[in-house]
Amino acid sequence: MIIEPRMRGFICTTSHPDGCAQNVKNQIEYVKSKGAIEGAKKVLVIGASTGFGLASRITSAFGSNASTIGVFFEKPPSEGKTASPGWYNSAAFEKEAHEAGLYAKSINGDAFSNEVKKQTLDLIKSDLGQVDLIIYSLASPVRMHPTTGVLHRSVLKPIGGVFTNKTVDFHSGKVSEISIQPCNDEDIENTVAVMGGEDWSMWIEALKADNLLAPGATTVAYSYIGPSLTEAVYRKGTIGRAKDHLEATAFSITDSLADINGKAYVSVNKALVTQASSAIPVIPLYISLLYKIMKEEGIHEGCIEQIQRLYQDRLFSGAEVATDEKGRIRIDDLEMRPDVQEKVAKLWNEAVTENLSEISDLEGYRKDFYNLFGFDVEGIDYKAETDEMVNVSSIV
Ligand code: NAI
Repeated sequence: MIIEPRMRGFICTTSHPDGCAQNVKNQIEYVKSKGAIEGAKKVLVIGASTGFGLASRITSAFGSNASTIGVFFEKPPSEGKTASPGWYNSAAFEKEAHEAGLYAKSINGDAFSNEVKKQTLDLIKSDLGQVDLIIYSLASPVRMHPTTGVLHRSVLKPIGGVFTNKTVDFHSGKVSEISIQPCNDEDIENTVAVMGGEDWSMWIEALKADNLLAPGATTVAYSYIGPSLTEAVYRKGTIGRAKDHLEATAFSITDSLADINGKAYVSVNKALVTQASSAIPVIPLYISLLYKIMKEEGIHEGCIEQIQRLYQDRLFSGAEVATDEKGRIRIDDLEMRPDVQEKVAKLWNEAVTENLSEISDLEGYRKDFYNLFGFDVEGIDYKAETDEMVNVSSIV
């Protein structure tokens, strides 16, 4: 079929297998160009098909020659209907990994469920024996709690008062004012249940109970802080509470791994265009301005550059892992540089529909958004007939 982008709100309902495959190849080439990383060799990535999780899987495989098991929740294709992009990304990743002689298998299902956890543990037992690195990179709007059966929905709301600020519709470039009503207590609990640390610790407990963690095993989850501009809706909002919980969980996991000398970290990453972040009001405007400044300064990074640097300079540099006063790895250091933030804040005050294409990198934002779905990728012939029925070769 000829596959074109079809938009519904903030989401693209189609994706292009060849464009997704090219994105994966580009990320692999980047990692290879940066040289070998003396990292973990048996790696489980939970949330492995897009964004930071995919970049982690690629960095482990092609930076450290690691065997990888990827867990994700993606929609396979059907005749005339494209798969979700993470499906095509994973198909491409596995093809490249297998061609390079690397072990790579995937599990497609709900990572919050007991069934998928058990399936993953069984696979590790039979194929890898143990894992030495577990990346936890889920971003989900919902979680069915495996014990209570309650379906929790996360929300992106401020706490304690209405939040009013600028936002942009990144398709039209129209800047407008948005007001978001504050949450109630239940919203906070639900968001913490979905995006907090409970599921992460459940994974680690289950792995440990079955003796599937190698001595000295490391686990890393991803967090975000961001500037004061977005604070009310992000770090001091419902999602921020979930991130507080996730960050606190790193300490309790580390305690629980003392006997095997294991360690849990949270890495605070940079704001980037992913399916998860494009749904958050205000963030696309911030990212468009941030991209402009960081590109001008020559310090812009995407997911793969962030994660490659996280592995090479922090996790596996050979030195003690550098953290901030709260024990977090800060790979958002360039985003949070005071000079960068000052410039973004100045542009934020000036931003209106009429000047946005000039003062921001809205074009870059849009391109990254289309790229997520395999569109607008260099070297792809979008007019050509394309087979949508792509398989992930070793899905379990
Ligand atoms: P993403 O939307 O690109 O990736 C989410 C991944 O989770 C995908 O592999 C998806 O298949 C998987 N997933 C979702 N629900 C699942 C389920 N029920 N079972 C199994 N897999 C499931 O998200 P992104 O942006 O890479 O986020 C990953 C982490 O990084 C999140 O914790 C996010 O808060 C954090 N982060 C994101 C930043 C950003 O700007 N995008 C910045 C800093 C941190």
